[in-house]
Amino acid sequence: MKSRLLIGIDIGTSATKTALYDECGTRLAVHTAEYPLYQPQNGWAEQEPEDWWQATLAGICAVLSASHCDPRDIVGIGLSGQMHGLVMLNEQGQVLRRSIIWCDGRTSEECEDITRLVGAERLMDITKSPALTGFTASKILWVRKHEPEIYNKCRHILLPKDYIRYRLTGVFATDASDASGMQLLDIAKRDWSDELLNALDIDRALLADVYESCQVTGHITSEIAKLTGLDEQTIVVGGAGDNAAAAVGCGAVRDGRGFTTIGTSGVVFSHCKQLRADPDGRIHSFCAAVPGEYHVMGVTLAAGLSLRWFRDQFSAIEQIEASERNIDVYARMDEIAADIPIGADRLLFLPYLMGERTPHLDPFARGAFIGLSASHTRAHCLRAVMEGVIYSLRDCLTLFDAAGVAAPERMMACGGGAVSPLWRQMLSDVLGCTVSTAASNDGGALGAALLAGVGAGIWPSVPEACDAVIHLRTEQSPIDQNKADYEPYYQLYHSVYHALRPVCHTLATLKTSYREDRT
Ligand code: XUL
Repeated sequence: MKSRLLIGIDIGTSATKTALYDECGTRLAVHTAEYPLYQPQNGWAEQEPEDWWQATLAGICAVLSASHCDPRDIVGIGLSGQMHGLVMLNEQGQVLRRSIIWCDGRTSEECEDITRLVGAERLMDITKSPALTGFTASKILWVRKHEPEIYNKCRHILLPKDYIRYRLTGVFATDASDASGMQLLDIAKRDWSDELLNALDIDRALLADVYESCQVTGHITSEIAKLTGLDEQTIVVGGAGDNAAAAVGCGAVRDGRGFTTIGTSGVVFSHCKQLRADPDGRIHSFCAAVPGEYHVMGVTLAAGLSLRWFRDQFSAIEQIEASERNIDVYARMDEIAADIPIGADRLLFLPYLMGERTPHLDPFARGAFIGLSASHTRAHCLRAVMEGVIYSLRDCLTLFDAAGVAAPERMMACGGGAVSPLWRQMLSDVLGCTVSTAASNDGGALGAALLAGVGAGIWPSVPEACDAVIHLRTEQSPIDQNKADYEPYYQLYHSVYHALRPVCHTLATLKTSYREDRT
């Protein structure tokens, strides 16, 4: 029988992962390409769309050549991508400026403008969220206000993965899950809101058509077919925002199923058949990758980002040790953190390095070590960073109740953090639930490939694709003593933000001098 293969491409913040799967979900080849994050000012975050594209091209060529497959066997491509990033193109389809991405916090004034123009209540009714700096609408308004010469040339507004789709197929399209994070979508109707677009004076023609995640949006162009070796008939489906795609990749696609991911951001996610929302919008209610269904999620902005920051700034020794032993530096960092007791000997870390989304919705929040003493070592700081990220995920989970969503009894864990047994046990102890991993930790890339498989007719629906392919690998349960030991630290952690808030807000007003293109 002819084999049917699928490609999933996940355009992440630290890297793009391209993976080739057979129809049992077995990964035949994978390629990961990293790229920089630009922080031209404190609290700003940008990336170069061309970097995503070069990483994608390299990924497709690498998986084709490593697997020696016949490209005609590839029946579909699915895209998953970091959400909310603003990509602006001119008439000729050229990128007009670097993408302002999801963790950029520069747009608080534009959020006030959106609230004034739309009205706080209507904004909540339509988008299920107050105006947020991370979401795309405020980024569009920022460019219009601060870079009018760029805005005037803009003819197409796309999200990161949709820019890659455009380069692959020449088609301007998005999907309902990713479009949910633009704050221009009527979430209940799964289409752009004319009321919002009118109030914000944004031309609908700038936006791409909205598809469901497993619908076919186009085919590979002949130019890309020549460049990569892919077949021109290969379909590209809608795909999904990275979290909705990760949900597919770990099987969280039925009511009450949830997952936690520690990627660059950290997310606690639960699938809901019906639309449910926190009246205060502290967690997001977005369209799911399952047609017609929804999910809620809380997002902490600097989860893996905090650990990567710690690695880059303070872990040169571990990087050398890890390369001598031929292990991953994060595995070495795990060993070091595991030797430090719960609570890091009375040290707390607030992971608000990029401001915070859930639960504080505060772009001016900043990170902090609280309780530093001369007895603390780098190892204590590292342990505190890992614990702070987990406390922040618990903050996300506690808000599910407000949206009328029960906390999942079992959390799937995915993303880079799920590779760490230490982090998974912390998660289980602090969230108080069973934490499981799937046999594949590809998350978004696998989810995107499964969506392509549904689009290509391999499986009749997204849940059935997951049933066929996703299997559990590990399971960890809370340890009673650990739970009790973490509890007072979490309670204290929870109160520190409020104590520090005025300090952070004043800090944000102090004069500083900026350097261009800081990476
Ligand atoms: C979700 C969010 C992040 C990004 C980057 O709202 O901002 O999870 O999708 O991964």
